[in-house]
Amino acid sequence: MNKDVSDSDLRSLRTHDQQPNRIASITQKFEETFGSLPTFVASAPGRVNLIGEHTDYNDGYVFPVAIDKYINIAARQRTDRHVTLHAPDVNDSWKFDLDALPSIPQQAPAWSHYLIGVASLLQASGRKVTGIDAVITGDVPIGAGLSSSAALSVSATLAFLTAPSELEAPMEALVSESDKKELAALCQRVEHEFAGVNCGIMDQMISLLGRENHGLFLDCRSLEYEHIPLNLAGHYITICNTKVKRELATSEYNKRRAECERGVEILRKWISGISSLRDIALTDFKKHEEELPMLTQKRCRYVIEENTRVLDAVSVLKAHNQQITKKTDEALIQFGRLMNASHNGLRDDYEVSCKELDLLTDIARSITGVIGSRMTGAGFGGCTVSIVHKDALETFQTRVKKEYHEQIGIEPEIYLCRVGDGAQVFWSTELS
Ligand code: GLA
Repeated sequence: MNKDVSDSDLRSLRTHDQQPNRIASITQKFEETFGSLPTFVASAPGRVNLIGEHTDYNDGYVFPVAIDKYINIAARQRTDRHVTLHAPDVNDSWKFDLDALPSIPQQAPAWSHYLIGVASLLQASGRKVTGIDAVITGDVPIGAGLSSSAALSVSATLAFLTAPSELEAPMEALVSESDKKELAALCQRVEHEFAGVNCGIMDQMISLLGRENHGLFLDCRSLEYEHIPLNLAGHYITICNTKVKRELATSEYNKRRAECERGVEILRKWISGISSLRDIALTDFKKHEEELPMLTQKRCRYVIEENTRVLDAVSVLKAHNQQITKKTDEALIQFGRLMNASHNGLRDDYEVSCKELDLLTDIARSITGVIGSRMTGAGFGGCTVSIVHKDALETFQTRVKKEYHEQIGIEPEIYLCRVGDGAQVFWSTELS
């Protein structure tokens, strides 16, 4: 039975604000590596997407939150054109010359490609880029669908932009609101051109624009956005990591994108004025879906339905926000149902789930107090996100760990998520 749990019962799950500790630790690592203090630390969060999956590259809608897991880069400007990087988490280092970009030597470790990519594109865009010494650390799990690579490119972008600044300007003075959209697009190009993933723009936007206790309702075509308060009536956003990642993830991701584009290409003959799946209403799609090959039909149907689900999810949250009570009202329950439907579509029509993700969502949904559960991110492994009432957290933790382990043979990781702010810069004067 569920029981009221006290704060101490939750201690093993709850995450406190760890950012001051992380900043202190990376500052110390920088000093050990380079012999003096860094001038600043650039910090960018990972994300969990609550609903709106695989819609961003279809010009659609998404609703992610920034999580309290970060990639931090402690840095100091150099007087020459070299970039010297140290990544103690993977016990690796790399050095490159800003005048030799954009070529990537074969031996360059995968993580360095993002920094090389960011520096290349910033230079090509006409921004002033100088050499830096930098230490990189992070706790966004890698390859878990929580956007560690977007957090890396965003923190690298901030590090390169901040280094030449003479003044200890606050982040808002260094990077304006419209700059953020431009920088998100630049980081997205890094994924396309330096990592081979034809991703959308959701991850980079939320890493730059996240707001504490708010979801980001983003239109991925216009890049207009709205921060929606998350009043979850005693529920927590809970992330479960399957700890598996399919090798096929990148190629299947790119394939899905191509299938969506193919669908639009064919449907254009029947529905005028469309340039992406975002432009197609479900009723119009139903009239013409037979024109599409079966697989393309399933992919397109999922995306069109998912866009509608995001719009519905945001309006039920807004309705809930207008009449906040301590009780779980119908609007919040509806939000959870939409999350469940999103997962079902990803599993059956978009086919990017896997048995581990399905198992985690099945276990979660069978627990009283869980209002919704779905896979999050690109899929093929990675994480699920569930909305769990605090009274059910203990049961949730015990059952998910036990049943997942019994069937898959490994322990999943469970994180209780604090919804945090987007990327920030901390100056050395704030560090000591
Ligand atoms: C990855 C991509 C995003 C988005 C999601 C799926 O995280 O980087 O752009 O497409 O997958 O929603």
